[in-house]
Amino acid sequence: MSNQYVIVPQNYRSDSMVSISPADKRYFEQAQAKQKSPPQQMIFGGYSPSPSLQKSLSTQLSEQSMDDFGRMQKDSDTELVVQYILQLRDTDKREQALSELSKKRESFPHLAPLLWHSVGTIAIFLQEIAVVYQHLQPAQLTPTQSSRICSVLGLLQCLALHVQTRSCFLRAHIPLFLYPFLNTSNKSKAFENLRVTSLGVIGALVKGDDPEAINFLMQTEIIPLCLRIMKKGQELSRTVATFIVQKILLDDNGLNYICQTPERFFAVSQVLQTMIDDLHQSQKDDQRLLRHIIRCYLRLSENQKAGEVLKKYLPQVLKDPTQSFIKDEVVKKWHNNLLQNLSIK
Ligand code: TRP
Repeated sequence: MSNQYVIVPQNYRSDSMVSISPADKRYFEQAQAKQKSPPQQMIFGGYSPSPSLQKSLSTQLSEQSMDDFGRMQKDSDTELVVQYILQLRDTDKREQALSELSKKRESFPHLAPLLWHSVGTIAIFLQEIAVVYQHLQPAQLTPTQSSRICSVLGLLQCLALHVQTRSCFLRAHIPLFLYPFLNTSNKSKAFENLRVTSLGVIGALVKGDDPEAINFLMQTEIIPLCLRIMKKGQELSRTVATFIVQKILLDDNGLNYICQTPERFFAVSQVLQTMIDDLHQSQKDDQRLLRHIIRCYLRLSENQKAGEVLKKYLPQVLKDPTQSFIKDEVVKKWHNNLLQNLSIK
C-alpha cells in the first residue's frame, strides 16, 4: 500500500528495528525467497450502501429496512437502539447515546449492520476520533474524554467483529484512524485505556482469521506499533498486542512477511525475548501473556530459516524442557513442540 494512506508518524520504526550482525543478516537473507505482496487497490471510503439502506435510518426504521436487516424483530430493544442511533446526531445527547449503544454491543446482534448502514453514523464516529487527536500531543486526555472515545471504539470493535461489516470496515480504512492512539506512550490510565480499547478493535479484526484483515494490517504497518507496545506497554495492552502479532504469524502470508527480512524477524524475536526476560525477572505469573509468547515462538520455529536462527536466539529460560513456570497443559505442549522443531530436545 502506498504511503499516502498511512497517517502514523514514521518515527516509531527505528524503535522496533534492531541491529544485526552482517553474518546473521546474510545467513537469513540468503535463505529467504524474495516475495512481494501484490499491491492492494483500496479506495478510501469506497463503500457506498444501497439507496434503500441509506434511506433506512433517516427517521425511523421502516418495514422496508426491516427486510434489509434480515427479518429483525421490531421489539422494544430494536426501538431503543434505533432511538440511540438517531440521538447520536444531537450533540447534546451524543455522549449518553454512545455510552448506551456500547453497552448493547453483546446483547444486540444486529447492532453492527445498523450502525454501518445508518446515514452519518460512521462520520460521527470519525468526527469523535478526530477531536481526540489534538489531545494526544501534548498529552492532555481527561478521563471523561477517554471514556467517551472508548465508547466509540467499543462500537468500532463491534463493526470489526461482525461478518457483515468487517470487509466494509477494512475497505473504508477505518483501522488507520486508530493508529495514532496506538502510537502514544503516556502512562496515565486515560491513555492506557485508549490504547487497550484501540488494540481491542484490531484484536477483533484478527480474531476471525480473515486473510483480508491480516493483509490490511500487515500492509499498513501495524506490527511495529504492536512491537512497541509489547516492549514498553502495561500488562493488558502488552497482552492484546502480543495476541495480534500471534494472529498475524498464524496466517501463512503473515509468517512469510515477518520472516522475509532479518530486520523484521529480529525485531519480533527481540521483543519476545524482552517480554520473557521481564516475566522471569519480575516473577510475574502472567500465564495469558506467556501463552501468546510461546505460541509466537512456536509459529516462528515452523519457518525453516527463522527456526535455524531461533535455535541460537531462544531465551535461555525457554531452552529448559522442564520449564516449571509454564502451567497450562496446552502451552507446555507448544513449548515441547517448539524445542522439538529447534532440535533442542
Ligand atoms: N516498514 C517496516 C518493514 O517492512 C515495518 C516493520 C518495522 C516491521 N518493524 C517490523 C515489519 C517488524 C515486520 C516486523 O520492515
